[in-house]
Amino acid sequence: MAGHADQFRVARFLWCVRRNARGLDRFMSKIFDPSCRQCPRLAAFLDGVRAAHPGYYAKPVPPFGDPKARLLIVGLAPGMHGANRSGRPFTGDHAGILLYATLFKFGLASRPVSTAADDGLELIDVRITNAVKCLPPANKPLPMEIKTCNGFLHTELTRSPRVRALLALGAIAHEAVLRAYGLPAKQFKFAHGAKHVLEDGRVLVDSYHCSRYNTQTRRLTTPMFEAVVARALQIAVAAASAPAA
Ligand code: URA
Repeated sequence: MAGHADQFRVARFLWCVRRNARGLDRFMSKIFDPSCRQCPRLAAFLDGVRAAHPGYYAKPVPPFGDPKARLLIVGLAPGMHGANRSGRPFTGDHAGILLYATLFKFGLASRPVSTAADDGLELIDVRITNAVKCLPPANKPLPMEIKTCNGFLHTELTRSPRVRALLALGAIAHEAVLRAYGLPAKQFKFAHGAKHVLEDGRVLVDSYHCSRYNTQTRRLTTPMFEAVVARALQIAVAAASAPAA
């Protein structure tokens, strides 16, 4: 029979789990709106997708991962039969294959594969968000939609004091980060592997997007992607452990 000390430990563990879950819910409700319809074209498109695919999630896709992460990865937007179906960034998308395998390799994910929103996968010290939360037709959000959705990224950045490094997957994610900071894109050119120090000391690292097109044409290879993730991670960890000036 369990003693008082064991019972106390279990009760305390459950209390912590519930407290963390409540904290996560509060954090998410501030940085994300699952019922957002601010972009009429995207909202109407999602209405159609929901009717055509009743089993699909087909709503704005929330960020996924550690609310206290030091590394924030910024993607483009959900893919039709991936994140838009599963409700989790890069989950079911071809682009997620390399992304999650790489996160696992560096100890940032509990598993190398992301299959469904309820598969139990956990991210450690990293969070994934998208520049545009809704599925765009033909994978191409309009400039106005990127701008409208940017308020969420801005809020996420301001509410994530532990984030030290940002990894932008592709030029649109790169520009979305700069927009969230109110910085001119002209002064921070996108290039694979480029590193940009932002005004608050955070570092933006650029990568080609890990899309099917980029990986199949070998514009982005596995070693290239692993190197850029390792670089962003190293910056996030080193910056976080540096003594305060
Ligand atoms: N799926 C996402 O969630 N984001 C991307 O950028 C690509 C696929």
